[in-house]
Amino acid sequence: MAKAKYVLAVDQGTTGTHVSILDDKLRVVGSSYREFTQYFPKPSWVEHDLEEIWTSVEQCVRLALKDAQLAGKDIAAVGITNQRETSGLWMREGGKPLSHAIVWQDRRTSEHCARLRQQGEEARVRQTTGLVLDPYFSGTKLTWMLEHLKGARKRAEKGEVCFGTVDTWLVYKMTGGQAHVTDVSNASRTLLMDVNRLAWDDGMRTLFGVPAACLPEIRGSAESYGTTRGMKSLPDGIPISGMAGDQQAALFGQACFAPGESKCTYGTGAFLLMNTGETPVYSKAGLLTTVAWRINGKTAYALEGSSFIAGAAVQWLRDGLKVIKKAGDVEPLAASVKESGDVVFVPALAGLGAPHWRPEARGLFAGIDRSTTVAHLARAALEGVAMQIHDLAEAMRRDSGREIPSFKVDGGASANNLMMQFQADMLGTEVVRPQNLQTTSLGAAFLAGLGAGVWSSTDAIRRAWKVGKVFKPKMKPEVRERYLTKWRRAVERA
Ligand code: G3P
Repeated sequence: MAKAKYVLAVDQGTTGTHVSILDDKLRVVGSSYREFTQYFPKPSWVEHDLEEIWTSVEQCVRLALKDAQLAGKDIAAVGITNQRETSGLWMREGGKPLSHAIVWQDRRTSEHCARLRQQGEEARVRQTTGLVLDPYFSGTKLTWMLEHLKGARKRAEKGEVCFGTVDTWLVYKMTGGQAHVTDVSNASRTLLMDVNRLAWDDGMRTLFGVPAACLPEIRGSAESYGTTRGMKSLPDGIPISGMAGDQQAALFGQACFAPGESKCTYGTGAFLLMNTGETPVYSKAGLLTTVAWRINGKTAYALEGSSFIAGAAVQWLRDGLKVIKKAGDVEPLAASVKESGDVVFVPALAGLGAPHWRPEARGLFAGIDRSTTVAHLARAALEGVAMQIHDLAEAMRRDSGREIPSFKVDGGASANNLMMQFQADMLGTEVVRPQNLQTTSLGAAFLAGLGAGVWSSTDAIRRAWKVGKVFKPKMKPEVRERYLTKWRRAVERA
């Protein structure tokens, strides 16, 4: 590497923004984190303020530089990774957002999706995009904005407004409005991209009523998207050279480069991805076909199981039920009882994702009696998160025809030992947690370094990946069976 030998990764997640600075051995030398406001204007609606997201990025970059005792000029390249599907519209001139962004968890377009399914569109959508008709994805969110925001459609047709997911918004802001681009992994979550051709699809655009003029250019995951301009926290001229959706970046950061390698990230939601190689694999079990990344013209695909609530369940215990003060309190509370009794929690707080795809489903505590305490509820909440992942892993096994020999985990909520042990018990497979849980940032930093020529192969990331802790399954088969039976009954009722 030349003089500047640090890479900065922005991980813009659903609950907060995380910035890490890594050196040329991929060691984290500085980091920062900021939560921002979640807006719930109506039941099942979730929104973010794009300006507030941008402010959190500027703040976190400044704090991470301070933490690393570095100056902006020491940064060789910037990588962006982000909460996916969350959708916004903003003015091409000046960048003013037309409204809050609609977050991936938002269910306001459930009826629109149901209508399209009734019209028999599901098969075509699945074949073209690899996705299912669910409000999770950007397509119907964009339709909603074009229909409900004053003047949006006319301006979109004239190219006066830009559509974007959060990657697009950040690169637009970082380049002072110069770049209107997205990467192929993020584009593969919009319902608008042909997953085989990796281009916007006219049929899907027509189906969702989206004018071509508002769409960003689709690019690879490690290349130059532009350079910084007019930022408060970084000087002008630093290349932005890595970009991927957060789950794909984590797959990269976990060094899952070969077909069959997989990981599960426990963030706000939990997402299980398996690298399936250079051709898309279509699911028969309710999983998604998605692009993992495209580097030097070579595409890697993945199968994905998305469950919408993981860390968000703990956040809800903290902010909604107020049974804990901080997220870290959940583990000792749950561990204060030996088992959850008969309590089962189905974490369908934002509908059920893969493999069920039931946007109308809602969360459920079952099996409560007079002996139930908040400790049982907390334990059941953690178990419910792990149960969803069990179902996804089963679907993944059926679809790919492969066993998952060891289950790589990461993300903030994977620090919870009790939940990881339960996960291993339910899967009947060892769960492997790396030393660095922030594999999303690692992946984004590495993509940026590849894009800027800091590294030339993926060897460095394989070397940087180190085992932290292994959880081996310990539960007796009959106990496991009992848990699974209770869980299946509760899911039926959700
Ligand atoms: O698809 C949504 C996903 O990208 C959100 O990730 O880390 O914010 O839960 P996270």
